[in-house]
Amino acid sequence: MARAAPRYVCQGCGAAHRKWTGRCDDCGAWNSVVEEAPVEAAPKSLGAGHGQAVSFVSLDGVGAAAPRRLSGIAEFDRAIGGGLVPGSGILVGGDPGIGKSTLMLQVLGRMAGDVLCAYISGEEAIDQIRMRAARLGLADAPVQLAAATSVRDITTTLDVADGPAVVVIDSIQTMFVDTLESAPGSVAQVRASAQELIRLAKRRGFVVVLVGHVTKDGAIAGPRVLEHMVDTVLYFEGERGHQFRLLRAIKNRYGPTDEIGVFEMTDSGLMEVANPSALFLAERRGNVSGAAVFAGIEGTRPLLVEIQALVAPSALATPRRAVVGWDSARLAMVLAVLDARCALSLAGRDVYLNVAGGLRIGEPAADLAVAGAILSAVGDRPAPEGTVMFGEIGLSGEVRAVGQSAQRLKEAAKLGFVRAMMPPGAARQAGADTDIEIHEIGHIGDLLAPFGCAPGASGAPGAPAPRQEAI
Ligand code: TYD
Ligand code: MG
Repeated sequence: MARAAPRYVCQGCGAAHRKWTGRCDDCGAWNSVVEEAPVEAAPKSLGAGHGQAVSFVSLDGVGAAAPRRLSGIAEFDRAIGGGLVPGSGILVGGDPGIGKSTLMLQVLGRMAGDVLCAYISGEEAIDQIRMRAARLGLADAPVQLAAATSVRDITTTLDVADGPAVVVIDSIQTMFVDTLESAPGSVAQVRASAQELIRLAKRRGFVVVLVGHVTKDGAIAGPRVLEHMVDTVLYFEGERGHQFRLLRAIKNRYGPTDEIGVFEMTDSGLMEVANPSALFLAERRGNVSGAAVFAGIEGTRPLLVEIQALVAPSALATPRRAVVGWDSARLAMVLAVLDARCALSLAGRDVYLNVAGGLRIGEPAADLAVAGAILSAVGDRPAPEGTVMFGEIGLSGEVRAVGQSAQRLKEAAKLGFVRAMMPPGAARQAGADTDIEIHEIGHIGDLLAPFGCAPGASGAPGAPAPRQEAI
């Protein structure tokens, strides 16, 4: 039998270590490893002959399609893949204060008219939740409210035939199982609490939504270890200081992933944003240099955003490269390609790149728009009026095709854009029948002339390599 030795578990990723260590080997987090009570020894081998035989069936059997429950908040339903599936477990992760509790209260407030909904808070007192509900205009919604943290109490309450159909647990880090010694919020507690609640949800057929906080380094504390236990993982994200919020599906057993819902945080709660491109372009000033509009895709949804660049003479020995909303390594690559393939060196200059509105873009298709914004800044010439850009840049400077060109063009046309700079052949391939004037950019060098940049014009020869910096 295994000896029950003390365990040292990373609170960020759940990795177990034999000894205490200052830095988790698995996820690299500092100071996240804590000692936890020993787990019970491994069970003995079950032996053969005592179980029941499992019967196999074929894949093509007729199964009832999971009936989904729509919340009535279209952006939420979209992110979740078309409504809540009974008996499923959903994790809603996000930074503290981003609006998870607000969102879930609003969802329950909408659904409570049709089905029984319960909101169990381990963080806020009943009065606080009532105040929030009043602010959201939901004071009359028949949501069942409770403040509790003991999973034993909660499962006892919910394990009834006519229990609620949707249960929100806010947050899973405050819940505890009394058979474990470790503190609430520890990996063991979070895992055990979630397991109990999900098991009950599956048995009783209700939807359980677990709210989980992300720690400041981005790794979800505890809930990271939940990702594989739940059916759907949603992250609620957004920049502080910006109003918009994105609900992004990272994993979904019952629908597409990478789907997003867009909200705006207002005085009276989260408002749906049906047309996010208009929101992100709202404050755009046309005809300024150092900006390009990127026709992107988030999930299955086209999204236009403005990419801004500023190129300024550097007073530093190692010029700054500061990026907000994009990958700094990718910026380094675009700058290197401009340098090596177009003889346009920015070695003596600071480069700042910003995705307007606080959005974070992960798509390589943004390369061309980033290059456009930089060249526009270098040449001090605005992009041609009404232009969108997209395309991936390869290391030899070629512009590569990206997916869903037709959708990108359609969204651009909808918002009044008249021109697109994009990879060659993509429009034809996508069968796009659009009024947009298409400029095919086969090589990044083709982008220099439209912005008035001449090869070899702007570098400071012999300057040291810039230091990478991400904000
Ligand atoms: P909250 O839902 O409590 O965040 P979380 O549960 O993710 O920690 O949201 C809190 C923030 O939202 C807080 O900074 C105030 C803001 N807020 C509004 O701007 N408008 C509102 O109507 C509400 C309820 C909150
Ligand atoms: Mg909260």
